Parts: sequence; C-alpha cells; structure tokens
Amino acid sequence: MSKNKATFSKHFLWGAGTSAHQVEGGTHNNWTVWELENAKSLAAQASYQHDDLPSWERNKKLATNPANYISARAVDHYYRYEQDFDLLTTLNMNAFRFSIEWSRIEPEEGMWNAEEIAHYKHYIDQLHRRGIEPVMTLFHFTLPVWFMEKGGFAKRGNIRYFLKYVEKVMEELSTNVRYVITINEPNIYASLSYGEGTWPPNVRSKWQAYQVLNNLISAHNQSAKLIHQLKPRTKVSVAYHNAYYYAGDDAWLSHVTANILQYVSDDYFLKRVRKQCDFLGVNYYRSWRVYGYRIHNPETTGQNDMGWDLTPEHLEQTLVRLHDKYGLPVMITENGVADDQDELRKAWIESTIKAIMASMEEGVDVVGYLHWSLLDNIELDSGRWPRFGLAAVDYRTMERTLRPSAVWYGKVIKKLRKV
Ligand code: BGC
Repeated sequence: MSKNKATFSKHFLWGAGTSAHQVEGGTHNNWTVWELENAKSLAAQASYQHDDLPSWERNKKLATNPANYISARAVDHYYRYEQDFDLLTTLNMNAFRFSIEWSRIEPEEGMWNAEEIAHYKHYIDQLHRRGIEPVMTLFHFTLPVWFMEKGGFAKRGNIRYFLKYVEKVMEELSTNVRYVITINEPNIYASLSYGEGTWPPNVRSKWQAYQVLNNLISAHNQSAKLIHQLKPRTKVSVAYHNAYYYAGDDAWLSHVTANILQYVSDDYFLKRVRKQCDFLGVNYYRSWRVYGYRIHNPETTGQNDMGWDLTPEHLEQTLVRLHDKYGLPVMITENGVADDQDELRKAWIESTIKAIMASMEEGVDVVGYLHWSLLDNIELDSGRWPRFGLAAVDYRTMERTLRPSAVWYGKVIKKLRKV
C-alpha cells in the first residue's frame, strides 16, 4: 500500500446532503400516510425510548408532541431550494446530494407529472449555476403509495416499476448529473421496514428482510446497467450504511464475531453489487466494539443527542477496509451528528477530515465528503427534534441560520480547496 502525503485535489467534492421527504414538504408517499397514522403513538413512545438521553430535557416538549412526527411542510425546501443552495455557496461547497421523490414524478402508475419533472430540472440547473456538482439519489426510504400497494420491494416482480422510474429520470433529468445513487442504505431499509418492523410497512420478519435485501441487490444491479446503457459516463453507486465492527480484545471469539457482523452488515450486499458500482457511497455514523459475542461500546466516547456513540475516527478503518476489499473509489455520501447545541459538530468534522486524510495516506481514493445534513430536517420516525443541520431551521418561521460550526467548516473548506 502506498504512503502518500494526503492533499485534496481541486476536484474533491465538498458538500452536504438531504433527502426529499426529510426536507421538501408537501410530499405524498408511503411515509406521509404512515406518519398520520402513527404520530400519536410515536409521541407517546418517545418518553420511555429517550428519557435517559442527556438531551431529553431540552427536547421532550417537541418529542412528545404528535405534530413533531408529521412531515407536513418539512423545512419547505421545495420552495426554498434556491436560498438553500446559496448556503452551499456561502460554505464554499462544490457538491450537493439530494433525492428525487418518485411519488412526485409518478404519482400514479405510469402517469408522469410534467410539472414536477420541470421542478427538478430547474432544481438541478440551479445547482449548476452555482458550480455545485449534483449527487442524485433515486430511492431514499420513501416510495409511492401505489408501488407499496403492489407489495413494494418485497416482490421481485415489482423491480420493473422501479426501472421505469429510473429510465424516466435518466431521460428527463440526467443531462447535467454525473453521480447517481440508486438506493440509500438498502441494509437499513430492509432491516427497519421488514426486519424490526419499526418503519413502514412495519413487517417483522427476518425472512422478508432478507428477501427485500436480495431484491434491492437486483434493483441496484439492473438499474445501474440501465443507467450505463442510457448514459455510459454516469458514475453509479448505492449509499451504503457502513458501521464499523471491531474486536475489543485479542480473544479469538471477539474477532470472529466482529468479522461475521461486518460481513452480514456490509459484505453480503456489497460484494453482490460491486461490479455494478463505479464507486462506493459510504454513509458513516458509528462503530460497534465487540467482546466475545456481544457488543459493548466504550463508555468514554460521548454520545450525540440521539444517544449514538461518537467515534468519527473509525471512518478511517471503514474506508481502508472497503478500499482493500472492493478496490473502488469512495465517496462519503453521509456523515454527521445530531447536536442541537452545536457543541459536538466542530470536533466531529475535524476528526472526520483527519480520518479521511489518514485513509488517503493509506491509498484510499476518496472523491468527496458530503456532510449530513445541510439543514435540520425530519429525522424519519424520530420527527423534528434531532438536529443534524449545518444550518439550524426555525420550524415556525422556516428561517435558516448557519450554526457556528458550519461557519468554521466553510472556512476550512475554503482553505483545503486552495491546497
Ligand atoms: C439516513 C438519513 C438520516 C440519517 C441520520 C441515515 O441513516 O440516510 O436519511 O437522516 O441517517 O439518522
């Protein structure tokens, strides 16, 4: 492995990410239906799920209010995207990850909504005008209601509907788009929607989760082929949720368990899509320390507002491992921290950049770092209280304010882009 001093090329993508349902507002998909049905119970569960968190006292009012779980206007990004793209410019960024809301452009099977397609055309144009590279996601957790009524990704035969949508997006929206993410976190989707059943459609069956995961492998492979046929130079990947599993001691069992968990969590999927990926999209948030056959994380790392341990430094091992195993360039498609007080974000970003540089010194080809998220948003079944945004959003006025860590980070990007 070559040891080079890491520097960031001028093509390195410095950016941030969002997903349609979490920011746009006014969506109508399987999640919006589910939110209305489940808001009350989510609010009622919040206290016993989260009251041990240090952030609970600050957030309990919002977290126990059912309205917190209904996306409604979300953060009104559908109407404010130009203003939001200006934030990227202020932060000296040159890339932005977003998702196309399938249910907007195909609200009923086979009916294409020309206005919504025009909306996204304008959206992508506005990024280009600002010199921002779009990274376009096709499926980020939400699906059209009609597609779910047919059984969604639980039915292999339904992949064909996804392919028609992919084809339409490529025909209409891909002119200025070089990077396409087919599926966001297929492992999390399969496990939360079909395994644990905490997300819609609330199926609790390991077998179904396994089938959905296999169907998503196929959906990715088929759509990547289609995208390459239609536009050969497009760079395609999934955005995979890569947690890092490591042995906490030298015991044989700890190593074996960590390897098995890593395999089940990452490699089962990734090795089946590797040939249809031009790079690997990596979403990194956390790591898991294994003792024997159990997970026991260190108590010293601190936690974010949602109680997730803070180990940004393990991004290095994650990237090196993926590089060694798959030999593809990597793009960090998500990485960030729920931190409403903005006390953790600066240190998180600092460690993350160090981890990226360390991995580059070990030979990893890192093409970009997209922070999650540009804006505070709807954190899916946790609603509005977790704050991942570089920009804070006042949910009454929808006013955006860059957090101090973001202002600092913008200066760091400026410096690093000059190197
Ligand atoms: C998802 C995002 C989510 C973020 C923070 C990722 O799992 O892709 O949609 O907001 O993590 O939880």
